[in-house]
Amino acid sequence: MALLLHPIDLVTQHYNEFKQAEASVERIFELMAIAPSMQDKADAVELPTVTGKVEFQQVSFAYADNQPVIQDLCLRTYPGEVVALVGSSGAGKTTLMNLLLRFYQPHDGQILIDGVDIRDVKITSLRHQIGVVPQDTTLFSGTIAQNITYGRPALDPEAIQLAAKIANAHDFISQFSQGYQTWVGERGATLSGGQRQRVAIARAVVFNPRILILDEATSALDSESEALVQEALERAMQNRTVFIIAHRLSTVRRADTILFLEKGRILESGTHPELLEKRGRYASFYTQQFEG
Ligand SMILES: Nc1ncnc2c1ncn2[C@@H]1O[C@H](COP(=O)(O)OP(=O)(O)O)[C@@H](O)[C@H]1O
Ligand SMILES: [Mg+2]
Repeated sequence: MALLLHPIDLVTQHYNEFKQAEASVERIFELMAIAPSMQDKADAVELPTVTGKVEFQQVSFAYADNQPVIQDLCLRTYPGEVVALVGSSGAGKTTLMNLLLRFYQPHDGQILIDGVDIRDVKITSLRHQIGVVPQDTTLFSGTIAQNITYGRPALDPEAIQLAAKIANAHDFISQFSQGYQTWVGERGATLSGGQRQRVAIARAVVFNPRILILDEATSALDSESEALVQEALERAMQNRTVFIIAHRLSTVRRADTILFLEKGRILESGTHPELLEKRGRYASFYTQQFEG
């Protein structure tokens, strides 16, 4: 009896664990069974490495059967251009970027990168060439290195370090005793806000994409982390075509082109001084937003 009790006890313990795992496995399989709404065309090709020229040609889009969110919109960037998207909430800035990443498809018009219609290429080959720093970073339970490569095929440690250096993250990562193998909790609980943002920047540049999308964070950091994040962003932006959903005056001012969006249309475009001179919608938005 004495010999039997312990193993029986273990069996019941493991049985509970097994039941819990079974429930999780069911949910994982449910998730994996969902077909992505955006599929590659049968004859989709790999998008060759791009230079970063982006064109929207008369693009229109609506979510489901709702009001049009993007209306007959045209834009064209040259490689290396920094484009700031400005406009009030709901103007369609994020939607425009969702279309470029092909999370949704335009109802009319087309989007070209280096002259190639993005509908004709494999979605993974498109998304690998666009780095994204979202407004809110999601980190996963895993090592810092895994969080930077984001589950994509393993990269050599040097590439990960290079990305972390660009992102001003290498120093704080090196100070952890486990370095890049340091475990971060779910949602990055063990890192500060500024550190999380810098990991997100490293993640966006680790594959050296030619196109970068920044959804500028609005939440304030303390001034020291703020400076580190800004410096990291500036470095990350070099030699890439950048779309910034800009909330900061300093960013807007420095952009090569500002696009002022309203109700899914580009109302005005130009540099900061040009648009101020116009005394149009941007000028009054600017006065309200940044000087008021
Ligand atoms: N997933 C969605 N489903 C339905 N409507 C959406 C969705 N995302 C955004 N919208 C609507 O589209 C419009 C543009 O939103 P968005 O592109 O997020 O604007 P911005 O980023 O400029 O604040 C808004 O009216 C918003 O309510
Ligand atoms: Mg938005």
